[in-house]
Amino acid sequence: MTDTLQQALLEDAQAVEAVLAEALSGEDADYGHILEAERYSVLGGGKRIRPFLVMEFCRLFGGDPHAALPFAAAIELMHCFSLIHDDLPCMDNDSLRRGKPTNHVVYGEAIALLAGDALAIRALEVAVSNPYVSPSAAVAAVKLLGHASGTHGMIGGQVMDLWGERHTLDLPQLTKLQALKTGALIRAAAKLGCIAAGLDETDDRTITADRYAANIGLAFQIVDDMLDCIGSEALLGKPIGSDAEQGKTTFLQFYALEEAQLYAEKLTEQAKAEIAAYPGSDTLLALADYLLQRRA
Ligand code: IPE
Ligand code: IPE
Ligand code: MG
Ligand code: MG
Ligand code: MG
Repeated sequence: MTDTLQQALLEDAQAVEAVLAEALSGEDADYGHILEAERYSVLGGGKRIRPFLVMEFCRLFGGDPHAALPFAAAIELMHCFSLIHDDLPCMDNDSLRRGKPTNHVVYGEAIALLAGDALAIRALEVAVSNPYVSPSAAVAAVKLLGHASGTHGMIGGQVMDLWGERHTLDLPQLTKLQALKTGALIRAAAKLGCIAAGLDETDDRTITADRYAANIGLAFQIVDDMLDCIGSEALLGKPIGSDAEQGKTTFLQFYALEEAQLYAEKLTEQAKAEIAAYPGSDTLLALADYLLQRRA
């Protein structure tokens, strides 16, 4: 990773974490450990890639980063909800996430389920309360985030992913699965950045952002599938071999490791070509390269 990218990721992560901490602050003894469980999975960990995409696309298209921050926090809250549920025994049954025991291991399944639910709802609340954008832009953001997370987005992909444990998927089905379970939130992040910059869905720049994100999103999941085979648990902070253990259909059923790498490289180049002409796109170009080479 370039020093400039590392610095930019760090600065945005810190800014977003302050908003996340504020959103999850407070105590109420009557609710037992729920807020603690929410904070456990949101604060202090994760690469914060989705918030970074929100911030960077807002900057790329001339927006005020203040307007992007609430949307950046919202997408991370939604992502953390998806991770808590993804790890549950009825889903991937994993006990390590971001280098720590998973939420249900610490708080039990019922609280993990409810903490996930609470984060998803909080995400929408944080997005719609963005004081730096117009009411119509806030509504557009919530609509986008809701759609990307729901039945026709991340959740639909997760259902296909579970189906793929017991059934043979073909490559188009797997590609659709991955585009939904991982791609939908990554695309939403890029488009939330555009909304924060005052662009609407039909703007050419929003469409460009979406194409970049669709390409890096697919590459991201190919790399995730590869790291599940050849990665290091210590670096990744999550178990290796989880996909094989659950009998998942992944890209590695269709491609040898070297072919999968080449495919991810091709998608990364396509992503970069979408935005290369925009002045100031260097950070997003470097991000695409980093996501291809990442080990964590
Ligand atoms: C993990 O996402 C889940 C997938 C979509 C593969 P990340 O790799 O972005 O996880 P964190 O947020 O950095 O922990
Ligand atoms: C999960 O994909 C994507 C979501 C959380 C929606 P994976 O199941 O491959 O993610 P990891 O490998 O557990 O992070
Ligand atoms: Mg999963
Ligand atoms: Mg998983
Ligand atoms: Mg995985």
